[in-house]
Amino acid sequence: MRYAETGYNLEVDLTTGNIERVETDPELVELHLGGHGTAARIIWERVPPEVKPFDPENLLIFSAGLLEGTSAPGANRTIINCISPVTNYLAHSMMGGYFGPELKMAGYDKIIFRGKSPKLIYLWIHNDKVEIRDASHLRGVGAQRTAEMIREELGDPRIQVASIGLAGENRVYTASIEHSHSSASRGPAPVMGDKNIKAIAVRGTKDVNVFNAEKLFEMSFNSLKSVAKNPNVGDWMAYTWDDSFHHDNFSWGNSRVRRKGYWSAELQERWKQLTKRLLNRKTGCYNCLKECKLSIQHPGQPAYGAKCFSKISWHMCSFDELDFSWEILAVAQEYGLDNFSTPQTIALAVELYDNGILTDEDMPDFPENSKERFYYLLEKIVRREGIGDILANGSYAAARQIGRGAEAYEHNTIKKFEQLPLKLGKVNFPYFLMFSTGEKINITQIQGSYPQDPLRNPEKRQKFCDGWVAAPERFKKFYMEWEPRTDPSMEASCHICDWNETMHYIDDAVGTCAFLSSFRGQFGGKPAYHIYNFPKYINAATGLNLDSDDVWQIARRNRNLVRAINVGRGMRRADEKPPEDHWKVRLPEQEQELLSMYYKFKGWTDDGIPTKPTLDKLDLGFVADELIRRGILTGE
Ligand code: MTE
Ligand code: MTE
Ligand code: MG
Repeated sequence: MRYAETGYNLEVDLTTGNIERVETDPELVELHLGGHGTAARIIWERVPPEVKPFDPENLLIFSAGLLEGTSAPGANRTIINCISPVTNYLAHSMMGGYFGPELKMAGYDKIIFRGKSPKLIYLWIHNDKVEIRDASHLRGVGAQRTAEMIREELGDPRIQVASIGLAGENRVYTASIEHSHSSASRGPAPVMGDKNIKAIAVRGTKDVNVFNAEKLFEMSFNSLKSVAKNPNVGDWMAYTWDDSFHHDNFSWGNSRVRRKGYWSAELQERWKQLTKRLLNRKTGCYNCLKECKLSIQHPGQPAYGAKCFSKISWHMCSFDELDFSWEILAVAQEYGLDNFSTPQTIALAVELYDNGILTDEDMPDFPENSKERFYYLLEKIVRREGIGDILANGSYAAARQIGRGAEAYEHNTIKKFEQLPLKLGKVNFPYFLMFSTGEKINITQIQGSYPQDPLRNPEKRQKFCDGWVAAPERFKKFYMEWEPRTDPSMEASCHICDWNETMHYIDDAVGTCAFLSSFRGQFGGKPAYHIYNFPKYINAATGLNLDSDDVWQIARRNRNLVRAINVGRGMRRADEKPPEDHWKVRLPEQEQELLSMYYKFKGWTDDGIPTKPTLDKLDLGFVADELIRRGILTGE
């Protein structure tokens, strides 16, 4: 019997309409756990570097993590991978909610789409019954409305739906896949649109087998209770009214202007009252007591889920107030748009217009008012109309298509991927490494296990370390040695970047929410999941006897496999650089020294390519062979 995993993937060939339930190799769990790890393995094996994002051969994979559908708290992330049109590298996006667990209960670990459907369709999975259904009546329908219509059509409110809006249908590069109050926001939606998949609907009523149900339940139940009480897990932006940190420190507009001292007590009170007025309820994801998501409803508009940084990205980009974010989010999320990159691309266009690079010819009747400008461009982008057809390709590509010097205004991408509008004072070593080398390419999804600053008081610092159950000993030493206002040493920085990423790679393989785990280790030191209790959950769920080193090694394997996919697609050291203005003060020589040191630490060449011995040690010899065959590695 297979435990925790179902042992089956659903393979859907959209070109022919053929659907197969395919048994998977049990050994893959030992090697990669599941979720993102096994998806990367499939992409490595089946999507060679020659395949372009919009080729039918590009796979679009929806994975439920290994622990999903079991009692493990907050194990609910659906990880979505494909080759991204933004970067031509692996897209690595995820969403919470209920979709992944439901898929497991329908009897599948993954849905793997290949080919392209000749017409707009949705996939309906009801346990063993799977069908491709016509979606022509859903063309142009909003993402959440699509879910409602499908549930009505199929006559069951318990069906879970992941869908795209108009933006995804039109292959807007910054489109999102929406589900419940969750969203797979950055990367895969345009590929879903390109394959003509409007939505996936799933209903599952089967059991998910686990190895030791009693033990798993006991651990899970105790953890659930402590998660509820633990102030250091969950999305803190959902609980606190004080958002001075982002408003005073992050940049406004086209990631340009810092407004120090913007936040005030009066503003906070006004925003609190506004939000309370618009709030339907707080809500969360499958098997989690944290209510991180706000269901917000602006008068006359559909309700939507807001969380984390989304709630502030639109108004900061447009120099407006929270009222504007609450208003435009209802429209933008129905179109199915990423709330990070879309407003930033619009802010770029506004700046280009204000500097005479885009003109009235490009943007006829462009309004004066900032808010109206955002709506104007939003409507053009989702329809790929006029200038919208260019902006729909995201900031990096759009600036190059516009030309006329527009490239110089596009200053906030790494590996062509839009970053948070975070421009700080002096380069910070661990963050330099995370920004440069990360392949999730989203800093929020790389950082999190190690604190961003040391506590000043040495006694408090010691106390923090004493209670820091999540940290391997070396991190406590680094932390104790860390003088306030200085960078961690280069050696410590390599370890910190590596640890932060490792924990995310575990979360994305087993499907646990980073807010209970990798993203929240830094605060209280006691996240619900960490390297020492993951093996226990994995053991109770699957029967596999792994220790912390084994789990770390699996994460390392998955990490190197992802890197191999991307170096196969041309990624090199030269791509691993944050924008010039990411920090005011840069240390170019030390940065390069650090990068070389990190590559060495990871067992990569000085160009950032995993060496043959590194890959061999990770049972990825076949990956090394292929990189050698392609002339990317020499074999030493
Ligand atoms: N969980 C996993 N496994 N991996 C992640 O990268 N990102 C976190 C959190 N949980 C993340 C994760 C962040 S930064 C956010 S804002 C929310 O998921 C986004 O929730 P959603 O994808 O359900 O919309
Ligand atoms: N876009 C939409 N439409 N909805 C969201 O909830 N969350 C933002 C951003 N864009 C969000 C969004 C946040 S807070 C994060 S960390 C990233 O998406 C997560 O990216 P991912 O969903 O691709 O993993
Ligand atoms: Mg998401």
